[in-house]
Amino acid sequence: MTYIGKDIETAVALLENNKVIAIPTETVYGLAGNALNPCVVNKIYEIKKRPLTNPLIIHLHDTIHINKYVKNIPAIAKKLAEHFWPGALTLLLPKNHLIPDIVTAGLPHVAIRIPSHPTTIKLLRQLDFPLAAPSANPFGYISPTTAEHVKKQLFGKIFYILDGGPCTLGLESTIVGFDNDTPVIYRVGSISPEAIKKIAGKVEINNKHTARPISSGMLPSHYAPHTPLYLTNNVDELLKTVSRSGTGILAFKNLCPVIVEKNQEVLSASGNLDEAAHNLYKALHQLDSLKLDRIIAERVPNVGIGIAINDRLERAANKK
Ligand code: TXA
Ligand code: MG
Repeated sequence: MTYIGKDIETAVALLENNKVIAIPTETVYGLAGNALNPCVVNKIYEIKKRPLTNPLIIHLHDTIHINKYVKNIPAIAKKLAEHFWPGALTLLLPKNHLIPDIVTAGLPHVAIRIPSHPTTIKLLRQLDFPLAAPSANPFGYISPTTAEHVKKQLFGKIFYILDGGPCTLGLESTIVGFDNDTPVIYRVGSISPEAIKKIAGKVEINNKHTARPISSGMLPSHYAPHTPLYLTNNVDELLKTVSRSGTGILAFKNLCPVIVEKNQEVLSASGNLDEAAHNLYKALHQLDSLKLDRIIAERVPNVGIGIAINDRLERAANKK
């Protein structure tokens, strides 16, 4: 069985007993367990069917505790942390011996985030270990932004889903590493490159596919529905080349007049990119549940968080 509940004490008890549960964050739901226990971390990989080469983010509730797990924090990382934490920023920092190698897939850096979701902050305060938590979806599939999404995807695989309501942001954190004093974005996310640059003075983006991706945000195919997804700048043009029946539309602002409304999702009628990010995964889950032949998705303006939305859509469209 898999239960959805709001009881933090139950969550604490399960985590202290080396169980893996789902937790809410402001970005997406996470599949969480004791990051300091390699057996528990291994269970997370198994439940997610995630390759052991793809490392996990650890979650803490206070910057003070980070010193316990890393060798040092570059000055520029401190500056970003002060500005964006708690929040949707993940920092890659040199790990010390307390972080098991399985957490980082053998890499020398550990990904750390202080989430801002009040339920999860309360939960973390009661634990004396950090939580390793990837997004609570089977590897490669759409990330969950509600407790119901998690239940649908992981039913029977975990006992408890701590319900914190729909995720306010709805898109994963931005992952930032450091090349000397230059922040390098390995996964674009809820915090835009411009916002990082404003604080750090400079920023580079390196989320292209490499032979051994160090971040799944670098994998060419990810975040994908089961239904084949096609990405376009012009829905009307693409519709001329495919059958209208069996086609779903993921539109940015406007419904498409030639497709039945029930097969369409609009990300933001007012054209607001934050709202579009918030609705993205919910809309993909909904369209995928209709079991259509194809989904046509429209690119959003490539600015601010729109960069991360387009990035997710590109990868969702790359499923083979
Ligand atoms: O918003 C988020 O970041 C959510 C919530 C639950 O915090 N978590 C999340 O985790 O998206 P996940 O595992 O689905 O994606 C984490 C990404 C992966 O692409 C992983 O490869 C990368 O972070 N990552 C983790 N540790 C890393 C490391 N040491 N070096 C490089 N990349 C790392
Ligand atoms: Mg993920």
